[in-house]
Amino acid sequence: MSHSCSNSHIRMQLLTAILVVFLYTSCVQREVESEKVVQLHWYMHDTPFNGPNASSIPVTGYNASDFQNELAHFLRGQIYLFDDPLTQGPSLTSATFGRSQGTYSYVSREELVSYVSYTVSIRSGEYNGSTLNILGVNPESKTIKEYSIVGGTGQFRRATGNLEEEIVNVFGAFNFSATLSENATIYLPEDTNFTFKKPASLVE
Ligand SMILES: *[C@@H]1O[C@H](CO)[C@@H](O)[C@H](O)[C@H]1NC(C)=O
Ligand SMILES: *[C@@H]1O[C@H](CO)[C@@H](O)[C@H](O)[C@H]1NC(C)=O
Ligand SMILES: *[C@@H]1O[C@H](CO)[C@@H](O)[C@H](O)[C@H]1NC(C)=O
Ligand SMILES: *[C@@H]1O[C@H](CO)[C@@H](O)[C@H](O)[C@H]1NC(C)=O
Ligand SMILES: *[C@@H]1O[C@H](CO)[C@@H](O)[C@H](O)[C@H]1NC(C)=O
Ligand SMILES: *[C@@H]1O[C@H](CO)[C@@H](O)[C@H](O)[C@H]1NC(C)=O
Repeated sequence: MSHSCSNSHIRMQLLTAILVVFLYTSCVQREVESEKVVQLHWYMHDTPFNGPNASSIPVTGYNASDFQNELAHFLRGQIYLFDDPLTQGPSLTSATFGRSQGTYSYVSREELVSYVSYTVSIRSGEYNGSTLNILGVNPESKTIKEYSIVGGTGQFRRATGNLEEEIVNVFGAFNFSATLSENATIYLPEDTNFTFKKPASLVE
């Protein structure tokens, strides 16, 4: 193979690579331009241990007779189910925003980290009846936690985005209740009233 031939071959490959990058970035730009962004802010109230008033309950890995030992509350292997009220203001008695329902489980081998997955059901305002699905890990040592918004229903079909969360208040010691501030940044396709169409190849 001659030297000049392999040079022109490399040049062709380079041109192809540049073309692919160009096509890729122009596609990505178009997609970003057609997105709609929605910001929502609410407060979540989580009460893990309070007898009949608990909003989240341990379903496994929790030693109830070790209740006074705060360190035993969140250990690897524990799984909690929760149904937490969401409000528009920081107080539990302020106007309702909706509910958060799902699970968190303590998974980490090294630091205190839970894996969180839940659905936010909105029951007020212009998104009443729509939901958002959230997941990610929660490193307890971080002040601001960040989760992915991986989808939704109703007006949030095909949603993506992220949720930032911060603990703003903790009431009580053992039977505590925590207030968390949650900010969602939601990206929606331009056509939010999406109905699934079978690709032509699947239509009989
Ligand atoms: C705290 O919750 C535990 C577990 O649900 C319950 O046994 C205990 O009575 C509660 N203590 C107080 C002071 O409410
Ligand atoms: C449970 O909630 C009710 C209504 O808010 C309250 O009266 C009661 O004291 C609470 N019980 C406990 C154990 O916190
Ligand atoms: C649960 O906690 C109690 C009180 O600390 C302890 O005596 C007991 O051994 C624990 N049980 C298990 C299964 O770890
Ligand atoms: C939300 O929608 C439900 C069901 O359509 C309705 O009953 C309820 O009144 C609505 N809530 C608000 C605050 O608009
Ligand atoms: C959420 O937004 C509110 C209001 O814009 C702001 O005060 C707060 O710091 C934000 N919190 C987080 C965790 O991003
Ligand atoms: C969404 O689509 C449905 C079915 O095609 C239609 O009946 C409805 O009016 C549309 N809603 C909006 C807000 O465009």
